[in-house]
Amino acid sequence: MHIRTFGCQMNAYDTGKLKALLAEDGFEPTEDMADADLIVVNTCSIRDKPEQKLHSFLGEARHVRRARQAQGGDVMLAVAGCVAQQEGAKLQRRYKDLDLVFGPDAVTRVRELVKRAEHERVLDTDFIDADDYVFADQVDPDADASPTAFVTIQKGCDNKCTFCIVPTTRGGELSRPSAQILEEVRALTARGVKEITLIGQNVNSYGLKVAGERTFAQLLYAVAELPGVERIRYTTSHPRDMGPDVVQAYRDLPQLTSHLHLPVQSGSDAVLRRMKRFYTRERYLRLVDELRAARPDLALSTDFIVGFPGESDADFEDTMDLLGAVGFHTSFSFRYSPRPGTPALKLIDRGDEVPADVASARLQRLQARQRTLARAAMDAMVGTVQQVLVEGWSRNDPGVICGRTGTFKTINFPGDVALVGATVPVRVTTAYTNSLKGEAVA
Ligand code: SAH
Ligand code: SF4
Ligand code: F3S
Repeated sequence: MHIRTFGCQMNAYDTGKLKALLAEDGFEPTEDMADADLIVVNTCSIRDKPEQKLHSFLGEARHVRRARQAQGGDVMLAVAGCVAQQEGAKLQRRYKDLDLVFGPDAVTRVRELVKRAEHERVLDTDFIDADDYVFADQVDPDADASPTAFVTIQKGCDNKCTFCIVPTTRGGELSRPSAQILEEVRALTARGVKEITLIGQNVNSYGLKVAGERTFAQLLYAVAELPGVERIRYTTSHPRDMGPDVVQAYRDLPQLTSHLHLPVQSGSDAVLRRMKRFYTRERYLRLVDELRAARPDLALSTDFIVGFPGESDADFEDTMDLLGAVGFHTSFSFRYSPRPGTPALKLIDRGDEVPADVASARLQRLQARQRTLARAAMDAMVGTVQQVLVEGWSRNDPGVICGRTGTFKTINFPGDVALVGATVPVRVTTAYTNSLKGEAVA
């Protein structure tokens, strides 16, 4: 089988589950689509661009399938993930070659679905009842060699940010039982994992809707207590739900790394209101101050949406201003992309759309400013000694290994992969925009 994955960590996690489940039926992963008896594409629909990747992929996959059929063989074609959930039957109508279309909640049923798809075209976009949902353990067989691992703590999202498709494609928020999370972390550290990243769409609301469950902050403390956990990270955090207890954790837990991804989306209160983010610019800035008081070297990254319906020049200047005021080390920024069925479409119907050229010009300005800030943050690290968790060979240089600083910067330095999993002090010698170079300190 050949599985291609687009999108976020949730999809990567689901792909791990797919691999493990299908392995039970004898499917072995192959990098080469032309060798596969089953081709699965796990899709993302967060913006139009990722969604379009599905269509070019299917073009390729149909080619493989038709070539195979011309030789009297066959290959099964399946679409999974968020576009499958969103488009469902429409996809089947558009692509006659599709054998199987299934959404994120159907992942656990994949073995049965593949068997059925040998005889008929199959569509499964049903959501599982909250009471019946079972979180699978981290099972990606390929994850073995890495000292870092993702652990899912939550699925879905109960927020209704007006631009966002995720609540439609992933359903409501569900917290994974913390006992199970801690069990998985124990199993991972026994395998040599040193850094745990807790993942969910809105981790700060973890556990709040389950009687007797730990809160997110309590979960952080519980994970930190487990032997072998050297670093803890988490994503994604919603500023509204981040409370003083999580801020306090930055004082108490040295395992919590000094990097936080805290998506702000916009620096304008008017835009934040129309996005239904439920925080103000002031509340965001205050939170940043509190976090930095608790952890002075905290490196912040964020997400921006530029050109949201109704965004005026003044609104955008507020965003530029906030970018500088916080001094984000990095950010992901995108032009607003209208998503099917989302509440923000009403704003477009009202005529509030920002012209494409205006949005593009704003985005370019924001990204240029961000590059300058990123580079300044990197430059400021030259000469310092950083604790680096070694992850493996560097991508390009033989004899050079790479790892991450506590602030999540990639750093390359001469060394041997025998050090993978070790934390080494490294002096930073050179800064680039996206990475650092250094030398291990004897
Ligand atoms: N749950 C996370 C975000 C998940 S989506 C949170 O609440 O922060 C990741 C990022 O994609 C978002 O932060 C947002 O910046 C971007 N995004 C989501 N929908 C978008 C859309 N319709 N157009 C452009 N960017 C979008
Ligand atoms: Fe989307 Fe908002 Fe939920 Fe994030 S919090 S997944 S942006 S609805
Ligand atoms: Fe994309 Fe779905 Fe994740 S839309 S970002 S793969 S939750």
